[in-house]
Amino acid sequence: MTTRILTGITTTGTPHLGNYAGAIRPAIVASRSNDVDSFYFLADYHALIKCDDPLRIQRSRLEIAATWLACGLDTDKATFYRQSDIPEIPELTWLLTCVSAKGLLNRAHAYKASVDKNLENGEDPDAGVTMGLYSYPVLMAADILMFNAHKVPVGRDQIQHVEMARDIGQRFNHLFGAGREFFTLPEAVIEEEVATLPGLDGRKMSKSYDNTIPLFGNAKQLKDSIARIVTDSRAPGEPKDPDNSHLFTLYQAFATPAQLAEFRAELLGGLAWGEAKQRLFQLLDNELGEARERYRALIERPADLEDILLAGAAKARKIATPFLGELREAVGLRSFRSSVQSAETGKKKAVKSARFVSFREDDGSFRFRLLDADGEQLLLSKGFADGKAAGQVSKRLQADSELDLRVEGDAFGLWLDGEQVALSPSFADPAERDAAIQRLHMVLAPQE
Ligand code: TRP
Repeated sequence: MTTRILTGITTTGTPHLGNYAGAIRPAIVASRSNDVDSFYFLADYHALIKCDDPLRIQRSRLEIAATWLACGLDTDKATFYRQSDIPEIPELTWLLTCVSAKGLLNRAHAYKASVDKNLENGEDPDAGVTMGLYSYPVLMAADILMFNAHKVPVGRDQIQHVEMARDIGQRFNHLFGAGREFFTLPEAVIEEEVATLPGLDGRKMSKSYDNTIPLFGNAKQLKDSIARIVTDSRAPGEPKDPDNSHLFTLYQAFATPAQLAEFRAELLGGLAWGEAKQRLFQLLDNELGEARERYRALIERPADLEDILLAGAAKARKIATPFLGELREAVGLRSFRSSVQSAETGKKKAVKSARFVSFREDDGSFRFRLLDADGEQLLLSKGFADGKAAGQVSKRLQADSELDLRVEGDAFGLWLDGEQVALSPSFADPAERDAAIQRLHMVLAPQE
């Protein structure tokens, strides 16, 4: 089975080395694997929550798009798009907003941090808090659930948001799924070995600390940033301590094991910090030089970038548009025409769609019941190990035109692929039983 990986990049800044090592590089490597289907997108609606400078938003979208392509993302294999090119996402956001508990969002770290800060300053708790900030996790849930992602690689600060996406998706499944799991429940993935890179001052590399090394600055900018890396005061010739040097940690993120061993030996042997910085510059310039040229070329052809992203959006919408159609149906936003037509033809006045009700047993297994139009039970499924398997069976019952029913005394069993998957209640007599079988055929008849 292919795993669907999805992640978004908020478009408020210019990519730096920390973004590259911690997110871009591992994501691109993952996207090349054959059993992975990857969705990477520019979270530009999220950017609007944090930034009201249109020029910066525009610039950042362009730079981030060019960065991912320059670093080797294959847009034939991965689906690469801008969130704001997918109108289904804000539409899904609303459907999800309507099932998201306000109490859940009250607990979001980012919102709570703002409230705490306000309280500390003696201000109104919600001072400066927009609905965008408050609803941020719902928009993010829509990003993830829209494409039924299995895995969502994120930084630690985003784990809670992925968990909220699970909660919200589960709630929607429960309310509207009628036995079908509309949404896959996503899992956050934290890449343990891609250590967060230290910045120039040794704290985590982050724009908010102003300690970053730009990814695609020119050689001089790279050199200047590296010159600002803080080191200790050991003189040339004095042995250095690689394990307590963030310059060494930076080197480590880009070096082969052999290069790293050599660098370690040199530092222990007294290499001057100035020389060490020159080594780091060489390493980074080698690793990034070619990509930097590609980046330049891409930035100069914004119309081509636009085409690439629009093609990505079209690819994403091939999934999003029909899926959102099903979700609209599920919540009751349906065409009047379809119901008028079935009344007109009068053929199926008793047609009510099958009602599957799924539930969980105390032992953790998943089952569903199929109820007839009057709410009377027709079938009770066996226990399934997970909700997905139960959902798949109920889906097949609605899609298959032939049902394998086997009478067993005053009851009947339902078989699928040579296995009994559900059993009816025991009816008072064979006539009652056969009437129930009739009703079963009615509710499950494929609709034309
Ligand atoms: N909030 C994420 C961040 O700031 C970006 C993001 C938006 C995202 N939508 C997403 C990440 C969906 C993963 C999945 O890092």
